[in-house]
Amino acid sequence: MKHLNAGTDDAVHVMLNKLSTLWKSRAAVNREQPDYWSLAFDPAKKDFSTSLLPFRDHQAWLEAPEELQSKCLSYAWGIYNLKTIYIECNVVAPVCEDIIKTPPPSANRALLQDVMSETLLDEALHTRMSIMACNYIYDMRGLPPLDFSDFNLVRWRDGLLADCGAEWERRLTRFAIACASETLITDYLKTMAEDDSIQAVCHEVTRTHAMDEWSHSSVFSFVATDIVHGLSRKEREYLRAVIVKTVQMFANNELGAWSTVFSMLDFPHARDILHDVGDTNEIGVYTESVESLLDRIGLAGKIHSNPVSASRQEVRA
Ligand SMILES: [Fe+2]
Ligand SMILES: [Fe+2]
Repeated sequence: MKHLNAGTDDAVHVMLNKLSTLWKSRAAVNREQPDYWSLAFDPAKKDFSTSLLPFRDHQAWLEAPEELQSKCLSYAWGIYNLKTIYIECNVVAPVCEDIIKTPPPSANRALLQDVMSETLLDEALHTRMSIMACNYIYDMRGLPPLDFSDFNLVRWRDGLLADCGAEWERRLTRFAIACASETLITDYLKTMAEDDSIQAVCHEVTRTHAMDEWSHSSVFSFVATDIVHGLSRKEREYLRAVIVKTVQMFANNELGAWSTVFSMLDFPHARDILHDVGDTNEIGVYTESVESLLDRIGLAGKIHSNPVSASRQEVRA
């Protein structure tokens, strides 16, 4: 069958080929891994950037003893990595597998499979780096590890998928959330990757991850461009709506995880902090990135109807 979007296919082909070539030399998985664990551990250094704490300006936090603040920052590193692991395993990997197993109809079929299998390898390494770096900090600080699995982003995704009535919806939902997450994760990693005042291992692990995610953001943009061309108007609108909604879920403060940590530490006035801070973080940090993603992949502009019903958009209690 003759392909109608030869121009776009060619452009996507050239870019994905370039990204795949760069992956061979630049991706962390293809480079010798530094021995992060031999970096000096400095007990006086923070394990996480205070500026990323959702309650950093709350009076109860500011008045807490320094030792307790330090433990909170170690757990903040734990929450941050655990959420990263859930994004890698539950959000991104299933989409890599979707495209590897049943690629969308495209002249770039093999290349799409190629870049997604490369991304899957990267995410496996990131998962390994995250869990090792978490456990290292728990060991060095003598803290019991945090067990938590109920992240809002993941729960919202599961709910949305359960409500999908058709396979095309399920597949597009998985893709939209992964595509948005792969764009937003670079912003999410940026502060820690640039903060060299924090524990060396935390800084280095995040920096290595952030460098890979710069490429993933491009990979997903070009894969999305390819996929969008084969979609109907209804499917495009659905994809756009889920991408936009993902921003809010990505920026969620994950107070369930914080509630667990505060209980573990018997943190004073924890209930006040949770009540006053609320669920929503600074969405503005991410909005610009998603707008430029929508622009790049051909989904910019006003949406005429919202195919994601209001009930599906809510986080399930
Ligand atoms: Fe990653
Ligand atoms: Fe990624």
